[in-house]
Amino acid sequence: MSQLMWFNGFLFMSVYIGVLSADPDIACTTTLYQLLLINASMALSIQSLLILFTTLLLKGTLLVAETCSNCFTHSRAAYYPNSDEQGTDVGACGFGSFGATINGGDVSAVSDLYRNGVGCGACYQVRCTNSNYCSDKGVTVVITDQGSSHDTDFILSQRAFGRMAQTKDAAASLLALGVVDIEYRRVSCSYPNKNITIKIDENSNYPHYFAFVLWYQQGDKDITAVQLCETQNFVCKLLDRSHGAVWTTNSPPSGPLSLRMLLSGEDGDESWIIPVNNIPENWKGGETYDTGVQINV
Ligand SMILES: *[C@@H]1O[C@H](CO)[C@@H](O)[C@H](O)[C@H]1NC(C)=O
Repeated sequence: MSQLMWFNGFLFMSVYIGVLSADPDIACTTTLYQLLLINASMALSIQSLLILFTTLLLKGTLLVAETCSNCFTHSRAAYYPNSDEQGTDVGACGFGSFGATINGGDVSAVSDLYRNGVGCGACYQVRCTNSNYCSDKGVTVVITDQGSSHDTDFILSQRAFGRMAQTKDAAASLLALGVVDIEYRRVSCSYPNKNITIKIDENSNYPHYFAFVLWYQQGDKDITAVQLCETQNFVCKLLDRSHGAVWTTNSPPSGPLSLRMLLSGEDGDESWIIPVNNIPENWKGGETYDTGVQINV
């Protein structure tokens, strides 16, 4: 503070000297009152500069916080009011029965995090922030659906919503609130003793339509592209993400099929995963096939 006063004094002197040494006519019409005004406004502008500088510094710190990949983001969460207590097999991701049973039913719909289906299968740690009811750990959910209500990022299954609480009583209180403040962060999915598994859609039939979803993808990266290759000449084609987690093509090649999955990380790194096992020539709609590979976590 004393430094600022010294600085003010210095400014006052320089303005005063400046005016004295200028054209005497102007100097005569410049009253002390005007000089004080000049000084005051300069002090003000220095103060606003300082405030601006401090604000910029703070903003810089906030920006660093926002790009921290392991940090929690504040939001709100609700729960499915009228559905089963656990997951749903009709979620927008198209996971089928995986969506109803996976992770013990700790699943969620998301709004922006859905990312046109790329977010399907991603895992998030979600914890509510009311210290009277909520545990520190919260719950880890798998994304199986899209939706939002009351400015929420997450609509959890009832089971997952209750599991953010410290106790059974606290869970009842949480559920009574309906919508709560939360913090969330992306975490690795973990499916012990499971390989990435291809679930062929029931409506698939050779040679007209081939659709599938991938179950049990571990880790915290996204599958952003899938190639389907025939195994004789290794001619590959990129598949379309028709909706959610569902990959499709209207003209599947004949013979055993081999997949390639492009794994993309938040930091822009990309790598192709190549399954050990092919999809057999006589694949059938509704069947599941083990790829023989998994992402290490
Ligand atoms: C996963 O795939 C490997 C072969 O790559 C196989 O040995 C293992 O049994 C598979 N695990 C499961 C749980 O099916």
